[in-house]
Amino acid sequence: MKILGIETSCDETSVSVVKDGVEILSNIVSSQIQAHAGFGGVVPELAAREHLKNIHPVVEAALQEANCSVSDMEAIAVTNSPGLVPALLVGVSYAKGLAAASGLPVIGVNHFLAHVYGAFLDHSEQLLKAESYPILALVVSGGHTNLLLVEENGEAHIIGRTLDDAAGEAFDKAAKILNLGYPGGPVIDRLAKEGNPQAVHFPRALTGGGGRPEKKENRLNFSFSGVKTALLYHVKDREMSDQELKDTVSSYQEAVVDVLVLKAMRAAKHYKAGAVVMCGGVACNSRLRLKMKQAFNKIGREPVVAKPCYCTDNAAMVAGYGYHCLKQNRVDNLSLGVNARLPLDLGKAPFVPETLT
Ligand code: KG4
Ligand code: ZN
Repeated sequence: MKILGIETSCDETSVSVVKDGVEILSNIVSSQIQAHAGFGGVVPELAAREHLKNIHPVVEAALQEANCSVSDMEAIAVTNSPGLVPALLVGVSYAKGLAAASGLPVIGVNHFLAHVYGAFLDHSEQLLKAESYPILALVVSGGHTNLLLVEENGEAHIIGRTLDDAAGEAFDKAAKILNLGYPGGPVIDRLAKEGNPQAVHFPRALTGGGGRPEKKENRLNFSFSGVKTALLYHVKDREMSDQELKDTVSSYQEAVVDVLVLKAMRAAKHYKAGAVVMCGGVACNSRLRLKMKQAFNKIGREPVVAKPCYCTDNAAMVAGYGYHCLKQNRVDNLSLGVNARLPLDLGKAPFVPETLT
């Protein structure tokens, strides 16, 4: 069963053909990073215009690479929330047009849950086992920093969230302060490798440090605005050598990574998670991947970490997710709308099988 997946929620136009939820026949990603770089962040209207330019050629390229035509598809899955509304509208309108012309069903996909499914594209057998549940997912991207629990019956709940900036924003804004360009995550990751992560002390918010007692309701929440402000003060009126810059970047990254690992570990222990997964663009971070692995290996666990190409925005996770929706007959119609925000009630994750082994 082949599904055409379309992703335009932020600054990547991506289209993919996936067979049976896991066999990726094509996954084309056209990035707009260059178009937004001068602004230090994604400009929604500009993103929409770029998607409009790219969507049709990217669909054609994905079909060609998969050696398929639209008539070989069973459905069209498209991200319809959460994301930038003008950007989402391009993908959804295109998908609806294609659905109307081809008679295929259209499936609206929750981008956030699709990121979680992205981690399982290479580990789909884990979804079938009862001992994987509840699944704890650390979803860390430019728009989200959440801890999600997916229960054995498929119910998905957010159990931790950021109170201000997302982890990806913490990297992007730090890079802006340091004039390192956009997006900040990859360049910080690279520079940090040559720096000393202990050189500068940056705050780890909501971890019970700094002499302030941690509020119970924030045990699984995050806050990254403080560490960003600390960086701003650290670099203010300071001439930095190349090495000092690398040490600063490395220490900053360490502060963000430490908090993510600590909270994921805390949640996994508290909820007695079966599988622990990490996904979203920030999950590409090499230090985070290493420290998550080390922390969980210490307690005899192996976290499931999405392949870097399925961490950042991609349509393979959307098409794969759509396959499970179709199997459960969860299809939409041409009145499918878009939504900027993550709904409070996430409902059931469609990728949890109805019967587990
Ligand atoms: O998932 P994604 O592609 O888009 C959203 O849904 O937001 O994530 C993009 C975010 C950006 O903030 C980018 O700086 C961050 O992921 N990112 C990284 C790395 N690669 C991408 N952050 C830290 N280290 C990386 N290697
Ligand atoms: Zn994303």
